[in-house]
This record gives sequence, C-alpha cells and structure tokens, in this order.
Amino acid sequence: MDVKRIGISGSCGNVAYSLLFRIANGELLGQNQRIALHLLDQPAALTRLNGVVLELEDCAFPLLDEVRVGSDPYEVFKGVDIVFLLGAKPRSAGMERRDLLLENGKIFIEQGKALKEVAADNAVVLVVGNPCNTNCLIAKHYDDKHRFFSMTMLDQNRAVSLLAKKTKRPLSAVKGMTIWGNHSSTQVPDFFHAQIDEKPLLEVIDDLPWLQNDFIADVQSRGAAVITALGRSSAGSAAHAALKSMKALLNPTPLGSWFSMGVVSDGNSYGIKPGIVFSFPCYSRGDGDVTIIPHLFWNDFLQKKIALTEKELLEEKEIIRHLL
Ligand code: LMR
Repeated sequence: MDVKRIGISGSCGNVAYSLLFRIANGELLGQNQRIALHLLDQPAALTRLNGVVLELEDCAFPLLDEVRVGSDPYEVFKGVDIVFLLGAKPRSAGMERRDLLLENGKIFIEQGKALKEVAADNAVVLVVGNPCNTNCLIAKHYDDKHRFFSMTMLDQNRAVSLLAKKTKRPLSAVKGMTIWGNHSSTQVPDFFHAQIDEKPLLEVIDDLPWLQNDFIADVQSRGAAVITALGRSSAGSAAHAALKSMKALLNPTPLGSWFSMGVVSDGNSYGIKPGIVFSFPCYSRGDGDVTIIPHLFWNDFLQKKIALTEKELLEEKEIIRHLL
C-alpha cells in the first residue's frame, strides 16, 4: 500500500506535539496504513523541531516510514495527501484583531500557493491556526485545486461535553450538536437540534434560560477560559478535535448524524452570504469532501445569533479583502 503523506505546519507548537505522536501511532489512518510526516515550521524553530524528530524516532512507530522537516512549504509539502495547518501567529498583548488577521494572511497566502503547486491532487487540508475561518478562506483563495476546511469540532466537543455534564448522561447519548459560523466568541452552538438519548434536547433540559445564556456563553468563551487557567491556548483538546475532524472528512458519516465543519459558504441553502468560510452541519461520504446538511430550521433566536457570526466573518473578510 502507498505511503500516505501528512503535512503539518506549526510542527513545533503545542497542538502539534499533542497530535504528531497519535498520528504516527496510527490513530488517524489505522494500523494498516504506512505514513510519512512532513513537518513545517519557521527557521527559528527547526532546532527544537529536530528534538521532536528524535522523539518520534525513539518511539519506533512501526507505521512511520519517514519524517521530513523544513521551513520552506514548497519543499516540505511536496506530495502531501493530508494537511493540518496548525501554525499561525498568536495574538500578542495589545495586538488588534485586524493586525492579527493581516499578519496571518501573509502566512496563509504562502501556504496556499505552495499547496496548490506541490500537494497531491486529492489533498485534504484542515485549517486549525486562528483566526481559522478567515485563514482558511485566504489559503483556499490561493489554492483552488484542493479541499480546504476550518475546524469547529473543538467547539462541538465542548458543547457535547457541557450538555452531558448538565444532564448527567454519557457523552455518547448527546447527538446532533451543531456549531454555526465562526470559531470565535460569536459562534452559535445550536442546542435546538441536539438530542439526548434520542429525545429532543429541549424535552430533557427544561431550562431554556440556562441554554440560551450560560450554555452558549460557556462554549463561546471556553478557549479563553483554558488560556486563563493554563497560561496558553488549548493544545490537547485542539489536537484531539483536529484528529477527529480529519477522520470525519476521510470516513463515511453514519446515517442520520453530522459534524460541524467550516466550509466555503458558496451555494449553501441557508442564505449565508457566499465567499466566507462558515461552519455548517456536514456529512462526508468518506472521500475527503463534505455536503452541508440542508434545511435545519432556524427559529428567531438562532437567526439573530447566526446573523451576528455571519456579520463578523464578513467584517474579517473586509479586513483581508486586498489580499484576495
Ligand atoms: C480555542 O478555542 O481553544 C482556541 O482557538 C483559542 C485560541 O485563541 O487559541
């Protein structure tokens, strides 16, 4: 069987450190698929990245055939089939969101161009580095050849976990959770279509004020809560969500279920403006592509919230429009 080549940017970061060893151990593609890791990071990080490579070697992973390392995406991403774009410039103290978008824009233009030129024809790309929806939009603009997605699985997992805790039910009892919109504090965790033990969630949790206020706010601000407590942004949970997202893209979705994923909004049936990367409920046939689940009903509450997250994404696009 051919080796699958997996490209990872920001390879020296915390998310990568939580992700690489799991991929190398077969958690993404199973125990019968040999893999190669193509690790990209900035020149200043390469010495540390070589330390990561030493550790990968020390694990003696039977499935790991090869590790390539470098800082030039045209070199490192040659032939990659699966790509995790984890690296992004973090927001520093006093930095405006506008500057963050623009700084990251440069990174994602370069990576988009490189992927278009050197990635395998069927490559699937997941953008995790923040602001991930708009970073994804930029990279996709420069690579019209491959499939690009941005991650809201972490938000979906957070929502499922909070609902299971509230109802004291197992996590597997919670189904149909959707995140609409941006991976930001305007995201909309949609509990109206969720179910617990096959029953509509609203029949199980008879507490609309908690759902509309505390629950939504907790999911929206969970990333910030992790940063406050841990002193850095989520890594283990982000890596887990990245793995789960890619598996969701590469495997058929069980009938009747769906997952949240940021996709280019062109042609969606919900009336979200085209030309942004927006999180929708999606399913996959297992070919690395998705179809948006159509026709979930939006009540007034959802409509108003979703309009806000759409507005934010349109504003983000305005800021980086000159880069497109
Ligand atoms: C998260 O949701 O935990 C992260 O996206 C937060 C961040 O800014 O890195």
